[in-house]
Amino acid sequence: MRIGIVGGTGREGSGLAVRWAKAGHDVCIGSRDAARGASVAAALAEAHGVALRGADNEGACADAEVVLMSVPYAGHAAMFEQLAGALEGRIAIDLTIPLKPPKVRSVHLPEGQAAALEAKAIVGDGVRLVAALHHISSDHLGDPEHAFDCDVLVCSDDQDARATVIELVADLGLRGVDAGVLRNAIALESLTPVLLHINRRYGVTGAGIRITGLPREG
Ligand SMILES: NC(=O)c1ccc[n+]([C@@H]2O[C@H](COP(=O)([O-])OP(=O)(O)OC[C@H]3O[C@@H](n4cnc5c(N)ncnc54)[C@H](OP(=O)(O)O)[C@@H]3O)[C@@H](O)[C@H]2O)c1
Repeated sequence: MRIGIVGGTGREGSGLAVRWAKAGHDVCIGSRDAARGASVAAALAEAHGVALRGADNEGACADAEVVLMSVPYAGHAAMFEQLAGALEGRIAIDLTIPLKPPKVRSVHLPEGQAAALEAKAIVGDGVRLVAALHHISSDHLGDPEHAFDCDVLVCSDDQDARATVIELVADLGLRGVDAGVLRNAIALESLTPVLLHINRRYGVTGAGIRITGLPREG
């Protein structure tokens, strides 16, 4: 699948890019600066022995079937406004956590209740918005061999898009769990500050969530 990653030069996007490239996907690292997108893609490709492309953020969306939006909440709304046209008709995965520094271990509900709902309000129904991957810490993403001990909750108002993203999550070596409609992103985004608290409280870096009681296939 062709995957574009907006903000793919960052900690979270670059780790996911390498994992998807290793799984055989055609991944393009997007940046506000095309040269930076290309150089980060080349460096990651060399370091991990994978094929990766780089471009500006519009270029990363241009021929993508799925776009991962991976920029900080501070730039989230502006990026969705800028790329609304480029995202039209595509699946857009939003993993944004609306943290409010310095209180990143305390739940902060943004004005629109969730970053993903704010994105939906900007781009409308023409973009197949999915919220997922909020609980995968970048701390271990840089090591493609690291096995995460957690599930990935996936929500969207578009059931087919939800199913596609659950498959892409499986390609990362993780179990995706159907978490219902996009509004449930309020709960998903709110869990990250809780995990950040748990990390600090127990002196760990990768606290995650696991859904119990599911059949083996999930
Ligand atoms: N890090 C984690 O553990 C983690 C876990 C779960 C979810 N998330 C979410 O994933 C997203 C990315 O996190 P991250 O840690 O990868 O962030 P990051 O490294 O701080 O930023 C990612 C990339 O976004 C671009 N960027 C930075 N500020 C921007 C702005 N104001 N407007 C547009 N683009 C901007 C930069 O790329 P260019 O300069 O190349 O454009 C940067 O490399 C965030 O929404 C975060 O809440 C992170």
